[in-house]
Amino acid sequence: MAKITVLGQGECEFDGQFSMLEALDESGFDMPYSCRGGNCGACTVRLVSGDVEEIQSPAYDSRPGEILTCSVIPTSDVVIELI
Ligand code: FES
Repeated sequence: MAKITVLGQGECEFDGQFSMLEALDESGFDMPYSCRGGNCGACTVRLVSGDVEEIQSPAYDSRPGEILTCSVIPTSDVVIELI
């Protein structure tokens, strides 16, 4: 199980949900998102530390250091920051 820390907001556990976004949603975080399919970029956050793995190939091109929470799962404890 990996811990997801949202800077300034708190933390939750990743426990096999479909995506990081789903884990954050379930834990009550008010995360930005729209398509949930890697197309819009609305769910972009900064990955401060930790590792993630893509679970779908997003059409949206993230900048270095940024991730789409709808399209990844954490593979270690991670720290993210809303932008
Ligand atoms: S919600 Fe659209 S790219 Fe993640």
